[in-house]
Amino acid sequence: MSETKPYSESCERNRGPILEVLREHFADRRQVIEIGSGTGQHAVHFAAALPQLIWQTSDVDSNLPGIRMWLQESGLPNLPPPIALDVTAAWPDARYDAVFTANTLHIMGWPEVRALFAALPKVLATDAVLAVYGPFNYNGRFTSESNAAFDDWLKRRSEYSGIRDFAAVDELTRSIGFTLVEDRPMPANNRTLVWRRAAASAAMT
Ligand SMILES: C[S@@+](CC[C@H](N)C(=O)[O-])C[C@H]1O[C@@H](n2cnc3c(N)ncnc32)[C@H](O)[C@@H]1O
Repeated sequence: MSETKPYSESCERNRGPILEVLREHFADRRQVIEIGSGTGQHAVHFAAALPQLIWQTSDVDSNLPGIRMWLQESGLPNLPPPIALDVTAAWPDARYDAVFTANTLHIMGWPEVRALFAALPKVLATDAVLAVYGPFNYNGRFTSESNAAFDDWLKRRSEYSGIRDFAAVDELTRSIGFTLVEDRPMPANNRTLVWRRAAASAAMT
């Protein structure tokens, strides 16, 4: 019996606007690790459009078969097989000069979000770029009624999930030497946030 590829409608909608941000900020990047790749749709779209990148997908074990299906069907040479990566467990012994993650920080509990940022310096080059897509709160407030409803839905699913405060995430990135370089509004009240690490501050982590 052949398996059906997993499919995310939201990935199809948001991949275009996210790609415009990555075209700018990943233009000089070569090795990207994606955290929580989900279906693998983003990886296929971005790796096709940005062939200078080796795009390393990752996710918890149970999502890897679906990601493999998308990658294999694409036939793209810059998509190595996905790796199992739970942000709270062991990280790969490899170096990347960019990180991408979409719609993950509000799914993970806050301790997992902290674990993710704490682990990044071990796998990142000194001038790494970090791009995060998803909904964020500002000044402790939802940016829309739909985000407030989404947060309510998330919390009914898991008490640990919830839309994160931009300031709290920015603080985590600053603690590992990153500086915000762009906060771009995206459709449907989402953002793509981009941070960059300066070589000098990276030396201190
Ligand atoms: C809402 S999905 C987003 C998937 C994809 N990035 C997208 O935008 O469609 C959240 C993803 O976070 C992953 N995730 C949740 N907890 C994780 C953890 N502790 N470590 C790694 N990935 C995790 C899930 O497996 C899932 O793929």
